[in-house]
Amino acid sequence: MRRRQFLQLGTGGVLAGVLGFPGATRANTNSPDFRLVAANGQHRFLDQQAEPTGVMRYNDSIPGPLIRIPRARESVILFHNALDESSSVHWHGLRIENAMDGVPGMTQDPVLPGDDFIYRLNPPDAGTYWYHSHSRAWQQMALGLAGVLIVDEDEPPRVDQDLVFAVDDWRLQRSGQIERASFGSMHDWSHAGRVGNFITVNGQRELVYPVSAGERLRLRMVNIANARSMQLLINEPETQVVALDGQPVKPFRPEAGIVLLAPGQRCDLIIDLSFTPGHRSPIELLIRDTAYEIATLQYDERVKRENPLADSIELAANPLARTALPDRFRHVPLLMEGGAMGSLRSASLDGKILSMRELVHNGMAWAFNGVAGLPEEPLFRVARGSAISLDVENATRWPHAMHIHGHHFQSDLEPGVWRDTLLFAREQKSSMRFVADNPGRWLIHCHMAEHMASGMLTWFEVS
Ligand code: C2O
Ligand code: CU
Repeated sequence: MRRRQFLQLGTGGVLAGVLGFPGATRANTNSPDFRLVAANGQHRFLDQQAEPTGVMRYNDSIPGPLIRIPRARESVILFHNALDESSSVHWHGLRIENAMDGVPGMTQDPVLPGDDFIYRLNPPDAGTYWYHSHSRAWQQMALGLAGVLIVDEDEPPRVDQDLVFAVDDWRLQRSGQIERASFGSMHDWSHAGRVGNFITVNGQRELVYPVSAGERLRLRMVNIANARSMQLLINEPETQVVALDGQPVKPFRPEAGIVLLAPGQRCDLIIDLSFTPGHRSPIELLIRDTAYEIATLQYDERVKRENPLADSIELAANPLARTALPDRFRHVPLLMEGGAMGSLRSASLDGKILSMRELVHNGMAWAFNGVAGLPEEPLFRVARGSAISLDVENATRWPHAMHIHGHHFQSDLEPGVWRDTLLFAREQKSSMRFVADNPGRWLIHCHMAEHMASGMLTWFEVS
């Protein structure tokens, strides 16, 4: 897909057209709403690159195609695995049926090379979500298997453009190829994860969004990187945050124009463009004291309107907002330990206590409650409807982006905000509070893909 087409997918009805399916909205197995094919391919990151970069892609696109589905209605997505290794697709943040969650070995069998899997998604909540491989995610995501998924509101707010901003972080060699020798590097795994050296927005370096003065934009920002948390500076004074992790919030102005996105997090912005024709507004990534321009809002010569739209920008509440968190919770402690410069001496792996040295030898560097890697027994088992407070203590020297599958939670770090992924600073403590109301077996893990691979994951069961 060309850039403009990708960005313009925001308008209704395009989904069916792009796919060549004749407007199918109510699908059965024979006519899916969407076909998603994972395959090896090539992508051009650098303009004058002799050889395009070898990647893994969905539907020949980096990032994967924008998938738009309606709320509270089933959409059928036929996934085909044309890779030469097994895969699966996780729908990050969607509160859907457990069997559709895409976790091999827990909610489904791995999708073997050449095989298909039919995902049926019936999400109750509208919003900005994403999808990615959940099989060897540390490698398949780093090679490109991720994309954005939008669940449309029944009545979306009026905007002139509905734009997607999927920011990714790649580790490229000078040749432009993905650096592969460090896949599985225990140094990365025990430190910050696989942090890259090349930032893209919607698969491109220095993406340009053509805009007009006075327009109202909706900008859906998604951090699809393996491990890099990003501070993004929006240089538009009339910017408001309207949703976080897909869920509406009371609109507010980001402090100093900066939005922080940990891996997996999303932020929906509404921007009333307030400069004059010809202006360029950079969107910048802040790394320590330097601002790197990673995308640009490029004003053309037109003036769309003199005064900003008067319509409200507040999004309609999702069904999730009816969830009442009680005063009393079942408290489940979750102690994070390990990593470089940490104090973890030993942890259990597959039921055996191993020293840190032995853990590292087995590809493990982190532990939840003294257990490295997926335990056989769940962290907790509860009856549907139980209120859980996951009392997290980050006793490591590293930040972690904690993600709970199939549920949204609140924390005292951001009162009243529903998240599915929350960044814990080093040595931070906070609770993730939610009602376990979705039956099945669900993962809890750090979304820094290398941390998950080297120990930071567990699970719970709702019956
Ligand atoms: Cu977005 Cu288990 O992950
Ligand atoms: Cu982590």
